[in-house]
Amino acid sequence: MSTIQRIVAPLNRDWRFGGAYVPGSEQPAFDDAAFDRVTLPHANVRLPWHGFDESAFQFESIYRRQITLPETLRGRRVFVQFDGIMTATRTFLNGEAIGSYDGGYLPSLFELTEHLRWGESNTLAAVVDSRELPHIPPFGGRIDYLTFGGIYREARLLVVPTVSISNAFVKPVAVLDPGQRRVDVQVTLDAGSDFAARSRAVGVRLLDPDGRQVGTASAPLTVAAAGRAEVRLTVAPSPDVRLWDLDAPQLYTAAVTLAEDGQPIDEYRTRLGFREARFTPDGFFLNGRRIKLRGLNRHQTYPYVGGAMPARVQRRDAVILKRELKLNIVRTSHYPQSTAFLDACDELGLLVLEEIPGWQHIGDDEWQQLACRDVREMIERDWNHPSIVLWGVRINESPDNHAFYEQTNRIAHQLDDSRQTGGVRNRYGSERLEDVFTFNEFLDPSSDIRPPNHPHYLVTEFGGHMYPTKPWDGVERVQQHVLWHARMHAQLASHDGYAGGIGWCAFDYNTHADFGSGDRVCYHGVSDIFRIGKPAAALYRSQCDPAEEIVLEPTFPWAMGDCAAGGPGLGMILSNVERLKLYVGDRLVDEVLPDRGDLGYLPHAPFFTQALQASWGQRLQDLRIEGYIGERLVATRRFAARATDAHLLVEPDDRVLHADGSDATRVVFRVVDADGNRRPFSTVAVVLEVDGPGESIGDRLLSLSGGVGAVWIRSTEQAGTIAVTATTEHLGSQSVTIRTTPVEPEPY
Ligand code: GAL
Repeated sequence: MSTIQRIVAPLNRDWRFGGAYVPGSEQPAFDDAAFDRVTLPHANVRLPWHGFDESAFQFESIYRRQITLPETLRGRRVFVQFDGIMTATRTFLNGEAIGSYDGGYLPSLFELTEHLRWGESNTLAAVVDSRELPHIPPFGGRIDYLTFGGIYREARLLVVPTVSISNAFVKPVAVLDPGQRRVDVQVTLDAGSDFAARSRAVGVRLLDPDGRQVGTASAPLTVAAAGRAEVRLTVAPSPDVRLWDLDAPQLYTAAVTLAEDGQPIDEYRTRLGFREARFTPDGFFLNGRRIKLRGLNRHQTYPYVGGAMPARVQRRDAVILKRELKLNIVRTSHYPQSTAFLDACDELGLLVLEEIPGWQHIGDDEWQQLACRDVREMIERDWNHPSIVLWGVRINESPDNHAFYEQTNRIAHQLDDSRQTGGVRNRYGSERLEDVFTFNEFLDPSSDIRPPNHPHYLVTEFGGHMYPTKPWDGVERVQQHVLWHARMHAQLASHDGYAGGIGWCAFDYNTHADFGSGDRVCYHGVSDIFRIGKPAAALYRSQCDPAEEIVLEPTFPWAMGDCAAGGPGLGMILSNVERLKLYVGDRLVDEVLPDRGDLGYLPHAPFFTQALQASWGQRLQDLRIEGYIGERLVATRRFAARATDAHLLVEPDDRVLHADGSDATRVVFRVVDADGNRRPFSTVAVVLEVDGPGESIGDRLLSLSGGVGAVWIRSTEQAGTIAVTATTEHLGSQSVTIRTTPVEPEPY
């Protein structure tokens, strides 16, 4: 039988949410019978996807949950860990204050042991303040995004021995030299005040994905005082460990154990990857190979619930970024994001620039100390993710502040000497205390961007508010949006001095009244807020190797469109093939190669044709585009001139969910023509019905914008089959089913 005393139990179900906080509602005697029963992640209010008032989520609220721990566990320490509560929390057990935390993006940990009544029901209460409190980063000035409210990430109960492992930094060193390669392990232990003198030892085993040991080390340890202590070990891994890379993101597990009198009593597991990531004056190198970084910024905002989406949905964003947009890097603008998202980046081989919360404004000393704490807690949470290659330790686009940024850089370097720091700025001449010059280049890219005369030069934003674009915009605007991204990446690709670029941004996001388009949305994404690609998404997608996927997407609708210049505007087609043949009716009208001008630096430059404009006179004949690699026909796309709204497609991302009350998947609605092409001006209304053990996070009456929209279907705690039926006035009804599989109840 295992002697390990650690228990990690989910604490997501059976919460009671009382809405607006009433003084005294944190007390056990308070009657919460009228509260809603909710599951985490939870948003304190459900909102429409746009057009709402951002004061709607800014209030204080109350969450309560009963917890019963059996007598048999008495003697261990008990903690509750919240992965993210927006924005400030005061926590109570049985009416006694057990701690508070200011900040919405990093975990908070509260010890319950002292006030816990073993074998009885205990009332855990969290008073959550979701207002934009000016003493907490990112608040105090204006910010161009909404933060939403509630216990919006998962929670868990940790039951551990008196002396336990609280963290382990497992740091690969000299990874490119098999003779020197090692793993430096720094284990943090935490001793309760009643610890006893015992013979103790810490051990670490490195395991490959099949559980085979590829390295081990151990060291004795003396606990001399209550509180935290550190132990360092070095492991020499077996010489055949595989590197973590973009195409083969090999992960290992480190199992760290604490033994007392020869018995293992605690085990802490974390994953790691062997890779070397360096920004140099000659670009970015991963495992010694130069990689031109091509990325987008991600806000964690989802329609209807802000950040409150479960692990599966968070992971899906990483899949979209890596597999649909073919990016190699993402910036977690402007705060630490869900660990489920970062885990997926590790598994998929998607690099990450992670940064502390903040936007342009620097507050007073107290505020700056919270930002310094954020640097520390972000790094201590995420240091084992191989995907993270850069710590962002400056408040996004803030003015210089020598003392503050000296401190944030010092903290980062002291905690983690294996990664460089960046500090995202929009002032070219600002003081650079970071290792990498990370710069938001908000210049019209038709003018040349600034030369890479700062070493370690990474563009961290461009485009954005300078060219918001909606999926249903006219041809000219959509094409300029594509060009905006194409030109910038081409310029960055033209010189090794640029490490690459991270555009603004991946997905449209909710914002304040004084930003964006006035409907509380910044339409800055290459995808909409539902994560459905606009034409600019196809530019990114088309940059992949054709062996991965053949992409062939025109940037114009062939069925008219509203281009002043006529029909297809610039005649721009996005593809990674070598040659296109264009037929109008059955007549070959053009044969084109990718652009060899300014855009030629892209791995796969867009194609341009004038022939379609010329054939505009013979309109109402169908268009066929053939894509060739060498002499081989690899793709054919057809576009009907007389296209109509022909079908509604209903596409769930997943067909099976866990019946835990929080698991969810997106269901996308698309109006297409008979050839399957999107109808960009469709506004079809969809009536949604959900039958069975599921609910919709989203509108029951949904008007598609640009022929697309989505809701998320969330499981209940009952297993079964959820039927989602979308009914339209003229395109009939479509149904899909999603199965949910049973999940154990939460133990406590
Ligand atoms: C930047 C800012 C982003 C976003 C963007 C819009 O200045 O860093 O958060 O507001 O502008 O283009």
